[in-house]
Amino acid sequence: MTDQPRVLIFDTTLRDGEQSPGATMTHEEKLEIAGLLDEMGVDIIEAGFPIASEGDFAAVSEIAKRSRNSTICGLARANYKDIDRCWEAVKHARSPRIHTFIGTSPLHRAIPNLDMDQMAERIHDTVSHARNLCDNVQWSPMDATRTEHDYLCRTVEIAIKAGATTINIPDTVGYTYPFESAKLIQMLLERVPGADQIIFATHCHNDLGMATANSLAAVEAGARQIECTINGLGERAGNTALEEVVMAMRVRNDILPYRTQIDTTKIMNLSRRVSAVSGFPVQFNKAIVGKNAFLHESGIHQDGVLKNVQTFEIMRPEDIGVSADNIQMGKHSGRAALRAKLKALGFDMAENQLNDVFVRFKALADQKKEVYDEDLIALVKDEAVNDENDFLQVKRLRVVCGTEGPREAELTLLIDGVEHTTDTTGDGPVDAAFNAVDDLFPHKATLEVYQVQAVTEGTDAQATVSVRLSEDGRIATGSSADTDTVVASVKAYVNALNRLIVRRQKTAPDSDVKSVNYKDQH
Ligand code: KIV
Ligand code: ZN
Repeated sequence: MTDQPRVLIFDTTLRDGEQSPGATMTHEEKLEIAGLLDEMGVDIIEAGFPIASEGDFAAVSEIAKRSRNSTICGLARANYKDIDRCWEAVKHARSPRIHTFIGTSPLHRAIPNLDMDQMAERIHDTVSHARNLCDNVQWSPMDATRTEHDYLCRTVEIAIKAGATTINIPDTVGYTYPFESAKLIQMLLERVPGADQIIFATHCHNDLGMATANSLAAVEAGARQIECTINGLGERAGNTALEEVVMAMRVRNDILPYRTQIDTTKIMNLSRRVSAVSGFPVQFNKAIVGKNAFLHESGIHQDGVLKNVQTFEIMRPEDIGVSADNIQMGKHSGRAALRAKLKALGFDMAENQLNDVFVRFKALADQKKEVYDEDLIALVKDEAVNDENDFLQVKRLRVVCGTEGPREAELTLLIDGVEHTTDTTGDGPVDAAFNAVDDLFPHKATLEVYQVQAVTEGTDAQATVSVRLSEDGRIATGSSADTDTVVASVKAYVNALNRLIVRRQKTAPDSDVKSVNYKDQH
């Protein structure tokens, strides 16, 4: 595989990705992401659009200064001012690149009101100007996939003659089909004099969900640079996702026998960081990096995966840097999965014991969407996982909220079977109710996640609330559903505290949970 030709990975998360509405990143965040991309082996980082703002200029300059392995590229429109500003920012890099572009399709030619000849002259002048500043120049005919073929060939030839070293063919509006994407690159390679001297790049948007397929089709036809972003971040429906093209070429190397220099084990971390700094969550079933990408719930799949992981997985979670447990226990899980899960939790069960736990596990899974490790531990310990046996139980809750006055919560908790009541205030009904829980059961855990989701539609919908707490490195999640969002919230919070208590016992078995200093109202 190492003798195979390389496909260059050009990451534009910090330029095209950052153009997604709402995805603006801070200076520090851009530096962090650029550092991670460089470390992962991205060949070219498009760090920003230096003329766009002082902030963009500063970020591109700093990224250029700090770059170690990657080429650092900046974007510039087809005018000298943009190109000069771009050069001022990228020139600090060990390996700088100027990327200049102009819209060549009829729709885009109409905007600066240039006819074909005038635009051809502009391309010649601006690419020559860029090349006089920098040895590494990329030129893009924006909206290439909607540009007349003859004119596209003419402009590409001019850009090559003016000194462009990479020609990028953007599907700016995500309009093309994979077979067209391939044919376009093939046509350019066949018709344009000098095409064999430069690298063709593919830059696809995902408006019809075909960005990754279009990029790979372009590679099959001869493109040797893929432009992409982490998580497919980008304008509208986004761009080709880096993780998808890289893993597709790795898994199906028989189809596309090319290599990249990406260290794929860094993918998941980058995906999480980009999601966090851009504020764009990754959809659960997103290819490669989605939360569910390596989870199996049905009994048949779990059984298969446990016997031979390749039955239902075409890559290993470790390949992208995930070492997570790939079995999600739920109502479709079978006996084999339960046995394996319990074994991982330290319970090696005899067949009759397992049968007994399995019956109770199925009953519990019917009530709960997901069955957590703590639930299974309790099942094995012959404790019923229901409210009656929880250390903390919500007995009664009343809240006062509205536009006037303080929001109040009156809460009665059963703590180890004994009733305790308090009333507290807060910034809102949920805050007041959580304060009441904390008042009765003080703890050091911090609330890391509080998330409300409506399960169905309508104002009578069940709200599912998820809560995540952390305490001294221990993480505990809790969830609850109720048609009353505040009730669901308090139950989820209490549920997480109960799990935390189980975790405390698990990690420090000698500790006595009852020694926790909770408030005795009696
Ligand atoms: O999508 C596009 O056409 C672009 C260009 C600036 C290359 O992002
Ligand atoms: Zn783009």
